[in-house]
Order: sequence, then C-alpha cells, then structure tokens
Amino acid sequence: MALAAKPPLGWNSWNTFSHDINEDLIKETADAMVATGLKDAGYEYIVIDDCWSLRERDKNGRMVVDPEKFPSGMKALADYVHSKGLKFGMYSCAGTHTCAGFPGSLDYEFIDAKTFAEWGVDYLKYDYCNKPRHLDGPTLYRRMAMALRNCGRDILFSACNWGNDNTTEWIRNSGAHMYRSTGDIVDSWQSVKSIALSQMDMEKFSGPYCFNDMDMLIVGMYGKSHNGYIAAGGCTTEEYRTHFSLWAMMNSPLMIGCDIRDMNEDTKKILMNKDILAINQDAEVRTPYWRKEWDEEPETVIHMWKPLENGDYAIGFFNFHDGDCSGRLQFFDMGLPTRCGYGLRLHDIWEDKDLGVFTDRLETVIPAHGCKMFRASLVEL
Ligand code: GAL
Repeated sequence: MALAAKPPLGWNSWNTFSHDINEDLIKETADAMVATGLKDAGYEYIVIDDCWSLRERDKNGRMVVDPEKFPSGMKALADYVHSKGLKFGMYSCAGTHTCAGFPGSLDYEFIDAKTFAEWGVDYLKYDYCNKPRHLDGPTLYRRMAMALRNCGRDILFSACNWGNDNTTEWIRNSGAHMYRSTGDIVDSWQSVKSIALSQMDMEKFSGPYCFNDMDMLIVGMYGKSHNGYIAAGGCTTEEYRTHFSLWAMMNSPLMIGCDIRDMNEDTKKILMNKDILAINQDAEVRTPYWRKEWDEEPETVIHMWKPLENGDYAIGFFNFHDGDCSGRLQFFDMGLPTRCGYGLRLHDIWEDKDLGVFTDRLETVIPAHGCKMFRASLVEL
C-alpha cells in the first residue's frame, strides 16, 4: 500500500517523556487520543521514541524490549493501540547505538524489520546517531527502506538524519516516507523560529509519499518536558498557534509532542482546529509560495499561500519580530490580475470569522510572534 499520501498525523513520546516511557503511558495516551477527539480530528499514529529496549540484543541477535517498562511486550501493546483504531510506531537508529545508547539497527536491518512486523508496528522512526563514518546516509536509509518495504507489513518509514549529508538529494529515492531536515526542536519560540526560517527554501523537496518533517510539535508543552534540554522555558499560546499554523501550511507531518492526557483548552483548540488541519491534509498537498514583506526588516513578516483542491487558497501571515507588524499580500502575486472583476472572500480561521470580499490586496496587523491564517475563495464581483 502507498503510505503517506498526506502528511502523517500522530503523537510521539520524545518531546515530553524522553527516557521516561512505559506501557501504561502508551495505553493512556491511546485512550486520550480517542477520548479528546484527536483521533476523530485525524491523528492516528502513537509512536514510542528512543529508550524502549534493553542495552543488549538476545543470543539470536533480536532486540529485547525492556521488561520493566513494557512488561506485556510490544505485540500486546500494539494490539491495544490497534484496538482503539490507531496505528503503532516505534524507533530505531541507523548506527550501532541509538542516540540514548540502546542497540541500533546497523547490520541488523532485516532482522529488525522482521521483528517490528511481527510486533505489529506500523511506523518506524529511524535516527542517525553512532554510525560508522565510512558509511553514508543514502546507503543506510536505502538498506532499512528495502528491509521495511519487504517485511510483510505496511510500515511507514520516518527518516531522521537532521538534514545531514544533503538529505534532500537522495531521501525520496531511498524509499522513506518522511524525513527530518533539521536538528531537534526544543520548547521555545527561538527554536520554532529558527526551524521555520531554515525551511523556507525547502518546500520544493516535500510532497506526497516523502514529506519534509520539521520535527515533532511542542504545542501545549508549556515547558513541561521530563527532559531539561527540551523543556527550554516553553512558549505562549500565541506562539504555539503560530508554530502549528506554520507546520500545517508547510505540509510538515504533525506529530504531537505534549502530554495529551492533560491538555488545556487552548491546546485542544489549536491541535484540533479543523480548518488548519484541512490545509495540512488537503488532497493535493501543494507546497506554499512565500514572500518576505518588502519593506520590513529581513525575516520579520512572511506571508505564504497555497492552492487547495477545491479552488480555494490558504493564506498565512507569520510575524517573527518581537513587536506587532503589518503584513500586505498583493493578490496580483497570487495570480489575480487587478480590476479583473473578481475578488477573494476571506475567512479568518483562528478568529473563525467571515471577513467579506477583498479586492486587490489584504493588509493586516500581526501581533508579535503571532500569525493570521485565512481561507480564501474566488468570487465574481
Ligand atoms: C534525536 C532525534 C530526536 C529523538 C532523539 C532520541 O537524534 O532527533 O527526535 O528521537 O534522538 O534519542
């Protein structure tokens, strides 16, 4: 089956829980995915990141699940996740060891792919720590891709080599379904800003069956990671809204990183905003076109738009500056000639308000670190 026709949606344990994972957490997270409405909103993968195994393989070379963290084993846990109508993901690494020092899959790719298939795994995140210098990324990701694509089960392959070794040049033909192109996100505005700005020229390398993964979301974490490095002070609700809108607009996979058993109302409203999710999950997943404001400081306000399947356009304004700024979008740049008898009817998504019909241009004020998101439909005047 062709996987990842649209950006994958789900949850990953790393951002909040780091090494501190266990069976109950995963089960409760699967329960929460259903109870909160996240599943109905489209989120489907529950992914266990690093730190799930013992430090050594068994005598047959198979990875061993940590019996203290996961006493019922991975097959039983996968069955539980599947019983909720969700999909189950795990993690390994292209090197000898994972980033946290557990066994990696180097030279065990085929045996590990088979093991994951037996456990009922639907998604594999594949990291890049501790790999021998003489082996390059393309070779290692091709290997695991071949193993996964022939293991007897559909397993989505989520590559994570942080954009090293010119990832974009070879990742699509390796067989991976999504790929990380930056270092790790942490729970701070600075981190969101630097990842987003670093990806502005990368949109052409992302599309169906192989998406640019801008890293797991920090929405709703508010500095509460169990990992001090990731906690990083947290963000405001406004900053989380901007982060989510950017990732959605840029077609990144949306893998939630907060504790979904304990989300505040703002977090739920962000993660389950139907109009924003529809922009990320549009049938055509077109990449956005983007511009910097011509008369602002460099990298202050960026506006983006992209065509949607039904003829509408998604429009976003993003303010990376520390003060309020105005943004101006000339419809001419989108393809609409001036005085042509058509205008754009705008819906402000976060305000959930119809703004009426605009001709020629849209000018709007965006608060510091904030964003404005619109859905626009062409109308005859
Ligand atoms: C990093 C990766 C993170 C997380 C971590 C686990 O390399 O980028 O997302 O998986 O390893 O140790």
